[in-house]
Amino acid sequence: MKKIGVLTSGGDAPGMNAAIRAVVRTGLDKGLDVMGIQRGFSGLINGELFQMERKSVADIIQRGGTILRTARSEEFKTEAGQKKAANILSAFGIDGLVVIGGDGSFHGAQALAKHGIKTVGIPGTIDNDLAYTEYTIGFDTAVNTVLDAINKLRDTSTSHERVSIVEVMGRNCGDIAVYAGLAGGAESIIVPEKGYDVNVLCRTILEGKLRGKMHNLIIIAEGVGGANEIAKKVEEVTGIGARATILGHIQRGGSPTANDRILASRLGYRAVELLLEGKTSTVVGVQGGKVIDMGIDEALTIKAKFNEDLYLIGESLSY
Ligand code: F6P
Repeated sequence: MKKIGVLTSGGDAPGMNAAIRAVVRTGLDKGLDVMGIQRGFSGLINGELFQMERKSVADIIQRGGTILRTARSEEFKTEAGQKKAANILSAFGIDGLVVIGGDGSFHGAQALAKHGIKTVGIPGTIDNDLAYTEYTIGFDTAVNTVLDAINKLRDTSTSHERVSIVEVMGRNCGDIAVYAGLAGGAESIIVPEKGYDVNVLCRTILEGKLRGKMHNLIIIAEGVGGANEIAKKVEEVTGIGARATILGHIQRGGSPTANDRILASRLGYRAVELLLEGKTSTVVGVQGGKVIDMGIDEALTIKAKFNEDLYLIGESLSY
């Protein structure tokens, strides 16, 4: 292994820059040439590659987003697109590729490995929806962003004695809702893994009011959706004013937390080590605080396990 490439793909996540920095500097320290690939697999197909030096990744550890830019590529989903991408990597003399992204990006890494490129995936997504790893890079920052919003909403919700319904991201995974809901003291947390009953929700709100609650914070994951409709229904049934806030892409930005920067640095370092050990079609992650690696095929088949414990603690403490 003499030359490696690094790209970010899919939705960006805070901490991706810290991961790029770790890959580039570890690679250079170990005597490798490192090339950056812009705009994910789409940029790879278009030959958007450039040489990276230690200073190419200076002053980025604290920045959200990704200096390599990111994209979702339709062409790369085809066999022809994948072949083209593998040919470009070979033309540049790149034998190993680090892919930073979510499950879609890992499928891309898996496809390239079949075309003879050694690939290692680093989990970078705010959703925390990759079951083989306890945490993905960007999740902790997104949870803290939601928490900050919840704290602010709590102020206005209390002043007006209203119900505040906050919709958070996460695709089909309820982790952002559960973690932010627990940390923010939400009265109810609605996630796709559990579902909900609007009548129970309204009853909980009314019972809370009778016990003297001044506000009601309800966190709903986008996998359930419909925050505006729920607000309307809640207002109709309970007679208490209700407002919906859809946090949207604000959750994807911002300076990464210490946890995300450290996770990204550890995983980036290990990814390069694995390429040097000759591993391919592998992903890195964290389990019980330790960095682990696993074949992509196996990692992608592990079924998501909902964090029932945290959800139940949230429920019992919200009373
Ligand atoms: O996967 C990250 C994520 O932010 C999801 O939480 C969300 O469903 C999706 O990406 C939004 O995608 P886009 O950036 O294409 O709007």
